[in-house]
Amino acid sequence: MPLSLHLHLHLLCLSFLFFTATSIAEYACIHSSQMCEDVNISYPFWQIGASDSSALKNICGISVFGLYCPHNGSKPTIELSGETFIVEEINYADYTLTLVDADVTTQDTSCPRARNITLDDTFPLIYSSLDVNLSFYFNCTIDPPPPISLYLAPIECLRSGENMSYVCVLPQCGVEVNDWSRSCEESLPVPVMKGKISYPVNDTFDEAMQIGFVLNWTNMTDCFKCEASGGMCGFNDSTSAREFRCFCNNGKIANPECSSACPRNW
Ligand SMILES: *[C@@H]1O[C@H](CO)[C@@H](O)[C@H](O)[C@H]1NC(C)=O
Ligand SMILES: *[C@@H]1O[C@H](CO)[C@@H](O)[C@H](O)[C@H]1NC(C)=O
Ligand SMILES: *[C@@H]1O[C@H](CO)[C@@H](O)[C@H](O)[C@H]1NC(C)=O
Ligand SMILES: *[C@@H]1O[C@H](CO)[C@@H](O)[C@H](O)[C@H]1NC(C)=O
Ligand SMILES: *[C@@H]1O[C@H](CO)[C@@H](O)[C@H](O)[C@H]1NC(C)=O
Ligand SMILES: *[C@@H]1O[C@H](CO)[C@@H](O)[C@H](O)[C@H]1NC(C)=O
Ligand SMILES: *[C@@H]1O[C@H](CO)[C@@H](O)[C@H](O)[C@H]1NC(C)=O
Ligand SMILES: *[C@@H]1O[C@H](CO)[C@@H](O)[C@H](O)[C@H]1NC(C)=O
Ligand SMILES: *[C@@H]1O[C@H](CO)[C@@H](O)[C@H](O)[C@H]1NC(C)=O
Ligand SMILES: *[C@@H]1O[C@H](CO)[C@@H](O)[C@H](O)[C@H]1NC(C)=O
Repeated sequence: MPLSLHLHLHLLCLSFLFFTATSIAEYACIHSSQMCEDVNISYPFWQIGASDSSALKNICGISVFGLYCPHNGSKPTIELSGETFIVEEINYADYTLTLVDADVTTQDTSCPRARNITLDDTFPLIYSSLDVNLSFYFNCTIDPPPPISLYLAPIECLRSGENMSYVCVLPQCGVEVNDWSRSCEESLPVPVMKGKISYPVNDTFDEAMQIGFVLNWTNMTDCFKCEASGGMCGFNDSTSAREFRCFCNNGKIANPECSSACPRNW
């Protein structure tokens, strides 16, 4: 753009900044970084109950990324689709977090009975390429016939009378097990890390489930638009809907992105 216009824009932005300076605090979001055991809780994650007593309650971060820290030597937890998960690790460089189903850690750890965990499709978290699904079949009344019996490992500790339970690694056991699996009470996919599975899988699924699986938070369209425009994603914790808000560095709130009237890096 012509230099004069550029300069004009700068002056306009500066005066705008000057006149709105007093309202910056009012519309800023609280951004903190805290350790919970060895897990670093930083933006876009936030710690539930840790915000200061500010009446504004504007928290920087993604509303569903609130972590609870028990402060008793245990790692933080997160609620996803109504279930509690232990947060083993957050990797801010790779945009990934490693989770363990809390239910798995409270059962007999050498023989966890997986349950159906379904992540909401609209969630800003997707399964990472580091994951693989185990497929569990519980309370099957018929033994798997060859050739699928080759892939299905029986889980002795989940036997119930004549009923046997099985596990296999997807996609090794694919659609061809569908007919047989109708003889089972329940069948479920359970994500684990690819590298943590070894064979026979009926001996290692328990450890893999204790180590957990990896989710990727790259699917946050609105938030990334906001960040690219120089803002910070946040929400107002005192409103029940916790709607997404983009907190701009000029003290304004926008949705989803800050006005491009002012150059970003000045
Ligand atoms: C936690 O992570 C944030 C963001 O990567 C970083 O700025 C901060 O220094 C880290 N804190 C600690 C104690 O490692
Ligand atoms: C810490 O508290 C959490 C939640 O209240 C509980 O599940 C966990 O077992 C406790 N851990 C220890 C080591 O006491
Ligand atoms: C990303 O999220 C949108 C909803 O916000 C969803 O419709 C879409 O399927 C998601 N994409 C992926 C790759 O999960
Ligand atoms: C996270 O997702 C992005 C694309 O959405 C992908 O490029 C990246 O490889 C993923 N990371 C992992 C560890 O799965
Ligand atoms: C595992 O299964 C879930 C649920 O069916 C699916 O959303 C996910 O993409 C699968 N993951 C892999 C690595 O195949
Ligand atoms: C199999 O069914 C029995 C009887 O309903 C139940 O007690 C048991 O927990 C089931 N086993 C599995 C692995 O789901
Ligand atoms: C694993 O499967 C083999 C047969 O494929 C069986 O002999 C063994 O007892 C099973 N182990 C467990 C822990 O269930
Ligand atoms: C065996 O599994 C069937 C369902 O597949 C269930 O109705 C039955 O109660 C189970 N029997 C035992 C002894 O667990
Ligand atoms: C798991 O639960 C979800 C929602 O409750 C349901 O839609 C889905 O069919 C279930 N999946 C399996 C494999 O049972
Ligand atoms: C957040 O909500 C509270 C209570 O509804 C309200 O007083 C406050 O002004 C709100 N903050 C913003 C920035 O909208």
